[in-house]
Amino acid sequence: MGDIVRRIGLSLGADICWPLCFEALMRDLDLRIPDEKTGDTIRFEVERVFIEPFDLRQPCKYDVVVDRLTHWYHTSREWIKKAILMDGLYVFNNPWSVQANEKHTTYCAMMALGMPIPDTWMVPPKSYEPTPDLKPTLSRYAKLFDVKRIGDRIGWPMFMKPYDGGGWRGVSKVDDAAAVNKAYEESGKSVMHLQSMVNGWDRFVRCIGFGPQTRCVLYDPDAPLHDRYTMKRDFLTKKEEEHLRKVTLTINAFFGWEFNSCEALHANGVWHPIDFANPCPDSQVTSLHFHFPWMVKSYVRWAVFCAATKKPMRKNQDWAPFYAVAADEELSYEEKLDRYAAIADERFETARFEEFCAKHLAHLDEVTWGFFGTPVARDAVHQKVAALFPAHETEQFTELFWSRIQEWRKVEQKS
Ligand SMILES: Nc1ncnc2c1ncn2[C@@H]1O[C@H](COP(=O)(O)OP(=O)(O)OP(=O)(O)O)[C@@H](O)[C@H]1O
Ligand SMILES: [Mg+2]
Repeated sequence: MGDIVRRIGLSLGADICWPLCFEALMRDLDLRIPDEKTGDTIRFEVERVFIEPFDLRQPCKYDVVVDRLTHWYHTSREWIKKAILMDGLYVFNNPWSVQANEKHTTYCAMMALGMPIPDTWMVPPKSYEPTPDLKPTLSRYAKLFDVKRIGDRIGWPMFMKPYDGGGWRGVSKVDDAAAVNKAYEESGKSVMHLQSMVNGWDRFVRCIGFGPQTRCVLYDPDAPLHDRYTMKRDFLTKKEEEHLRKVTLTINAFFGWEFNSCEALHANGVWHPIDFANPCPDSQVTSLHFHFPWMVKSYVRWAVFCAATKKPMRKNQDWAPFYAVAADEELSYEEKLDRYAAIADERFETARFEEFCAKHLAHLDEVTWGFFGTPVARDAVHQKVAALFPAHETEQFTELFWSRIQEWRKVEQKS
């Protein structure tokens, strides 16, 4: 029996704060986990992945890669795909699924599973990149339409937003015919959705899912960026929390997005998911602050679990089991959700994960709590703030986010 090393690669772009904290925590934890089968001692090395030319046949030294680039940086995405296909790499999230499934697909799929997604239409774009076949195609087949009529069908006000949205780009609330015409005029070459507005909602929740781990945060879309993730607690009943957990796990397991967040609005007793194609969710202390230590812990738990157990990567999405549940007319939506979530728990190995954490990561809470009181943690916050805020605001915002983390430590200590 000897030591074996599992390597965790961090494939990063602009991320600053969570990788620094992840690396520091892994150093502090200094894990030595017995291998279930061989009895060898598993140790972990964390490295940042560099961008460089690669031979398709060269081996990959990592067991797990935490990927923050696939959604926009193609060289890294293609290296990751090669390493999954050829070298047995485990990655979150599934790069093919990130590449192929836009917000639009996620709406369609979850409508098919019975989720109360607001009524949504897609409209062809206002203008096009000129290509040789464009004129014959449009002149033969494109029907003239009036965007206003869609508003009359699904009800005013409604939302116009890109079918592949993110970061509130091109999102507008349109109240009437003049507003929708103007928004459509301005949408240019983007393919847009028109979506019925969830009226009179009383709560807006972002449920962050990380493997089988979830955390619901009350979200305030009207607040400045650093206040949108609120620090409110006790805004959900146990039953509601469980419901949102199941919704999130269903979406994440369906798409192979182990790390994703689901936005849902609550109105008239119903939780309407409205945006759940976020497979590279915000991980920055500058938006998550109070919730940031939970996020870093979740990164550690899931990465260590996948690396230690050599969790096999699910290369294909395998939607059939979900559709089999959806087709059962005897089942209510809640009963279907139970079954979807059971598929998710099987795919995420929830029971095994919990047992693993209890056995090998029981000290993580305490180590994390201690770490977030150290100058190293404060410096990670400072570095992120310095990269994002003007120089004259750096100290003030570092202190703000740091004080919220200290608030988290107080709450943790009491619980
Ligand atoms: N159907 C809807 N009913 C009510 N509000 C909505 C609806 N759709 C969007 N919104 C509002 O518009 C905001 C942006 O929409 P959405 O989340 O779909 O876009 P996004 O670009 O993906 O945003 P992000 O990347 O920040 O999550 C939402 O946070 C919400 O406040
Ligand atoms: Mg959103």
